[in-house]
Amino acid sequence: MNVDNNTDWRKLWLQQRNHFKATIYNNKFIPQKPFGRQARFLIYPSEEAFYGGQAGGGKSSALLMSALQYVEEKHIPEGHDKLKYNALIIRRTLEDLDMPNAIMDRAKQWLLPKEDEGLLVWKDQKKRFIFNSGATLTFRYLSHNKHLNSYQGAELQFVGFDELTQFPENQYNYLHSRLRKLEDSDIPIRMRGASNPGGIGHDWVKKRFVDDNAKLPFIPSAYTDNKYLNQTEYSKQLDKLDELTRLQLKYGDWNAVLKSGLLVSRNQLNNAVISYQNTYNTWQPSFCTIGIDPASTGSDKFAMSCLVYFNNGNIVLVDLDSTPSAYPEELLRNFIIRNSHWRPYIINFEQEPGSDSAYALKHWQTILRDLVKKYGITVKNTQTSHSKYNRARPTANMIRQNRLFFDDRINSEKLRSLFNQYVYVHPDKEVMKEYPSPDELDSLGYAFMEIQKVIRL
Ligand SMILES: Nc1ncnc2c1ncn2[C@@H]1O[C@H](COP(=O)(O)OP(=O)(O)O)[C@@H](O)[C@H]1O
Ligand SMILES: [Mg+2]
Repeated sequence: MNVDNNTDWRKLWLQQRNHFKATIYNNKFIPQKPFGRQARFLIYPSEEAFYGGQAGGGKSSALLMSALQYVEEKHIPEGHDKLKYNALIIRRTLEDLDMPNAIMDRAKQWLLPKEDEGLLVWKDQKKRFIFNSGATLTFRYLSHNKHLNSYQGAELQFVGFDELTQFPENQYNYLHSRLRKLEDSDIPIRMRGASNPGGIGHDWVKKRFVDDNAKLPFIPSAYTDNKYLNQTEYSKQLDKLDELTRLQLKYGDWNAVLKSGLLVSRNQLNNAVISYQNTYNTWQPSFCTIGIDPASTGSDKFAMSCLVYFNNGNIVLVDLDSTPSAYPEELLRNFIIRNSHWRPYIINFEQEPGSDSAYALKHWQTILRDLVKKYGITVKNTQTSHSKYNRARPTANMIRQNRLFFDDRINSEKLRSLFNQYVYVHPDKEVMKEYPSPDELDSLGYAFMEIQKVIRL
């Protein structure tokens, strides 16, 4: 929830002023003086807070300031000789961490002169500052779930995600679970995020912090607040971006979406939504298939599509579901049962490469044995060397020809995900890394493959 307008900042400022001066303004490790919105983000007294929107709004600086808030010696609790405050700042990739003037580089600009003064040491290998108080500030990248293993025993007091929308929610949640309050100390535990809109985590970040009904605080950032930028020049630079990126970075627009992709436009997709009652209850169903994209990595979803071919040559996606859960068995069984009146004759799983695939197929055949028998369904898998983009092509063609439709009773959030995937799916793998895995789209592709075999579309 945007707390910028509905917080009594004057009151909060009066409460926090002394603390702010002591821990930020007069902090010898923080050379920049926060401007208004940064200060709001810094004094907001909640365990989680998110600063986001426009680029250039001083997000990385604010995040670094908040991490450094409690590293000074004066925070060593009475009766202790060291401060156990450990702060962690995360970026998505090693390259992101290493970029000039990105957050770790900025920390080096701020802090390495203090190493010369003997106030801290920088451990290059570990990418860690160790302050004389005993406090630490570590920089890491987190491009894969397996990187989480190294945090198993970790106890942290501050975790900051820079460019939070580049991460899946489970990684944020996992590190959140590593926060521990320090004994004998008033230092609060904090999770802080900063980000522009866009990126693979856009949806969950928006839902968690930005939407009106989100529970957690969001403070919008604006480059027009940042008097240290040459704003005219910066605005011109942002104008050179493509329309979507400009809406996201220049205007911090959380609702900006791509109007059209390489395969199909958003208009064509919206026009393909039809109602059973008004449109296709008179069509004769011919046969039905279910396609499955099983989740392979931690951030993927298990997605399933139920597709029906009608005698008039049209096809309708009658049902679509997905889950991030690692245990989708029950959901799939329900999916089959609720669509059994369409008489699905094949369930086609995407076959993962590798020797586990035979085992996976057996697993599903066993789990579904009673349903398979009852409804006469075949459970199979298909391996494909096609890219996700090529897999989406045939169904996109059908949409453009007004032959593939979407039932309007499909869960609107799932349908929205599917449509977004049609628009952002791209032949370049590097481009695809910016977006969530198009699992719903893939499951539809696997259902369509089996229809294609029969009718040779
Ligand atoms: N309070 C501040 N005082 C001085 N310079 C600042 C301050 N906040 C940000 N800047 C500078 O403005 C530029 C943009 O800030 P940055 O934190 O990178 O923005 P964002 O992460 O939102 O894109 C950087 O060069 C940064 O050092
Ligand atoms: Mg930044």
